[in-house]
Amino acid sequence: MFLGRCIREVNMRDAMLKRKSIRTYKDEAVPQDLRQKIINYAYTVKAPFNTKMRFQIVDLNNTSPDIKLGTYRVIRGATTYICAVTRKESRMEESLGYVFENIILYATSLSLGTCWLGGTFNKTEFVKALNLSEDECVPVITPIGYSKDKRSLVDTIMAAAAGSRNRKDWTELFFDKDFSKPLKKEEAGIFSECLEMVRVAPSASNRQPWRIVKDRNNFHFFLCRNKLYGKILDFDIQKVDIGIAMCHFELTARELGISGIWRDMKPGLTCPKNVEYIISYAAQ
Ligand SMILES: Cc1cc2nc3c(=O)[nH]c(=O)nc-3n(C[C@H](O)[C@H](O)[C@H](O)COP(=O)(O)O)c2cc1C
Repeated sequence: MFLGRCIREVNMRDAMLKRKSIRTYKDEAVPQDLRQKIINYAYTVKAPFNTKMRFQIVDLNNTSPDIKLGTYRVIRGATTYICAVTRKESRMEESLGYVFENIILYATSLSLGTCWLGGTFNKTEFVKALNLSEDECVPVITPIGYSKDKRSLVDTIMAAAAGSRNRKDWTELFFDKDFSKPLKKEEAGIFSECLEMVRVAPSASNRQPWRIVKDRNNFHFFLCRNKLYGKILDFDIQKVDIGIAMCHFELTARELGISGIWRDMKPGLTCPKNVEYIISYAAQ
């Protein structure tokens, strides 16, 4: 009951606007009660698809000396990491994106810095530290800690390379009934804030691959693929981005008093090149 009340008090839209990737941290431990709050919170989030996930906090200072956990020096100063472990199954990426972003927003509301890491961490060593079973994997992790005012050089370079401050315009992301007509903010009515919160969401290399088509109260989510990713990683990182967009859309809708469900609607629209349908939100 107490836990439920604490969680309801969090304004997720504030957290969405406040969150940014933090790669340089103070040498200051995350208090035990905050760590516990995050883990408690993680288990209250219901994934949109039926995926088995668990979240584990790992301390670099407490792992066995033969395990060399690291982030290729991308993250500086942080010693505590939340690791997302999932069973290898269909739609694990969307579920993971949805739940992990929820956790990241919750950590943000506790004034902790975070940074999604899908590529720049030593996966083999994390797999060892987490003691994974054959059917599990750890696609993403995040450091948690307190942001340092002066960013490291790598941090500055990573953010500049991804153009992290920029976001695409509505005209590129959101459409009205089909892909031929961009959706204007004023035409989105009460859903305009849900879409705006998708627009500010984080994504791998800031590609912002989500495309959304509004058809009355249905919002069809599509993925605009960047072919490069398929060849680099052992999971579909851009589907994680879609899960993040689903999280921002649904949490905003909920805070505005809108309810809805995720459904496979197969809208049968003609898609631009490299765009594929993922899922729809049906507002009720
Ligand atoms: C799924 C995912 C994976 C990411 N992987 C990395 C990574 O491996 N290394 C890194 O430095 N940043 C990573 N990022 C952070 C993005 O570059 C960042 O979110 C994006 O540039 C937007 O910047 P912002 O988070 O400051 O808004 C990742 C983000 C997402 C969503």
